[in-house]
Amino acid sequence: MQTTTNPLREGLASRTMPQPCTIVIFGATGDLTHRKLIPALYNLAADGDLPAATTVVGFARRDKTDEVFRTEMEEATKKFSRQAVKDELWQSFASGLYYHRSEFGDADGYKRLADRLNQIDAERGTAGNRLFYLSVAPSEFEGILEKLKGAGLNKTSEGSCARVIVEKPFGTDLPSAQELNSVVARTFPERDTFRIDHYLGKETAQNMMVLRFANAIFEPLWNCRYIDHVQITASEPLGVEGRGPYYEGSGALRDMVQNHLLQLLCLTAMEPPTDLTADSIRDEKVKVLRSLRPILGEDVGTNIVRGQYSAGAINGKDVPGYRQEDRVSPQSMTETFVALRIMIDNWRWADVPFYVRVGKRLPKGGTEIAVTFKSAPSVLFNKEGAKVGQNVLVIRIQPDEGVSLRMQSKIPGASVRIEPVKMDFRYGTSFGKASPEAYERLLLDAMSGDATLFARRDEVEQAWRFIDTIEDAWHKTAQPPGLFEYSAGSWGPAEADALLERDGRAWRKF
Ligand code: BG6
Repeated sequence: MQTTTNPLREGLASRTMPQPCTIVIFGATGDLTHRKLIPALYNLAADGDLPAATTVVGFARRDKTDEVFRTEMEEATKKFSRQAVKDELWQSFASGLYYHRSEFGDADGYKRLADRLNQIDAERGTAGNRLFYLSVAPSEFEGILEKLKGAGLNKTSEGSCARVIVEKPFGTDLPSAQELNSVVARTFPERDTFRIDHYLGKETAQNMMVLRFANAIFEPLWNCRYIDHVQITASEPLGVEGRGPYYEGSGALRDMVQNHLLQLLCLTAMEPPTDLTADSIRDEKVKVLRSLRPILGEDVGTNIVRGQYSAGAINGKDVPGYRQEDRVSPQSMTETFVALRIMIDNWRWADVPFYVRVGKRLPKGGTEIAVTFKSAPSVLFNKEGAKVGQNVLVIRIQPDEGVSLRMQSKIPGASVRIEPVKMDFRYGTSFGKASPEAYERLLLDAMSGDATLFARRDEVEQAWRFIDTIEDAWHKTAQPPGLFEYSAGSWGPAEADALLERDGRAWRKF
């Protein structure tokens, strides 16, 4: 696809404006389309970031007219959009929404799709550019990709593009991820394959690289000489929210750690890339993944704590335990919480633990990366008996996006008394506008052919290598480490606290 630079952004940013294209969403009647994809596209249109001719074709099995699809999408957008839906704008956006009914396995449905896309190109000027979004269960991928290929939709004419966006879960272990990767690779080359990890689209995750590499003050300290440890937490008050069958086969480790949390860890730990191209950045992330010390056999029990929530209360409201959730086995051994002590075996991070924690039904929602620096030398103000705390740089991924630095300060007065204070940067107050949703940025990048914020094949596979040995120790050994219970509304099992206490540390309070 040809891309042009928007002259109004010249000097402000290096991003390219995508050419108009048709986005075909497989699984258009699903939750993701309603909650995220269509609202994201509408918001891009509202902010003037979407080329006017951009067209969306919802592909699904249910019988439906374009009109009904548009009405449903309008309702969904009104409910889930981050900005109010304006009637006039909606009308013009909705004129580019179409519905295509077909079974995923029906070759004829894809031929009709090809005709329809050609017609849309002629009428709306989408110039043969296509973006196929697979928002379906992974078991459907192969069939859909083969049929796309069969209808010649994976190729386009000179100067236009055909790309595919693949939603998670990208496999359930290394062999299944490799298999999926080869299925996709048979239809689309790697450069046209965009594996979504929506955490990478979050503004604050993107800011990690800017914070580290556009400021001169952090990088010299960003290593094992000055950093004591790093904590990465993603906590959610939500339970499994009707996703029992999916979650039963996944659990917190595969659902959140293999992708989102390891991505945040990579952004925190990676070396500066040689340039800002997608591959240079992803090369550095893969190096981090390759340096993760494998957690094997008995080490799984000592370095990882898994938990499952029992009944409890969230915000004063009683909630059931995981085993009582809809379509969850009453004997389920699936973890809804996991805390890990991860070591990165390279020069920069020698002996610096990365504690990663993720859980459902925790008291408060939030994701943050906290970098704790080593203590000041034990002289002057940091003597035995009068210890002062450590400096902590906290990157708040969500909510209340921002960065804060904890440091020590003298309390005003005649005597020298020291207390920690916080220097705080908040996106909301500094920039005066809300951050766009992750999917907005990611859709626009895929339309522009920029894969920087998408997971590359080797990245996904390397992450599975790390996760698989843990899953094996939990599920394929005679004496697996325990699954600890925690009440909904607590901060996870006590064993997770013990994991840090053993190292003389504690989890940060949210
Ligand atoms: C998804 C997981 O990938 O991320 C969910 O499948 C989880 O279980 C969600 O709730 C969290 O995303 P966010 O953006 O709300 O932090």
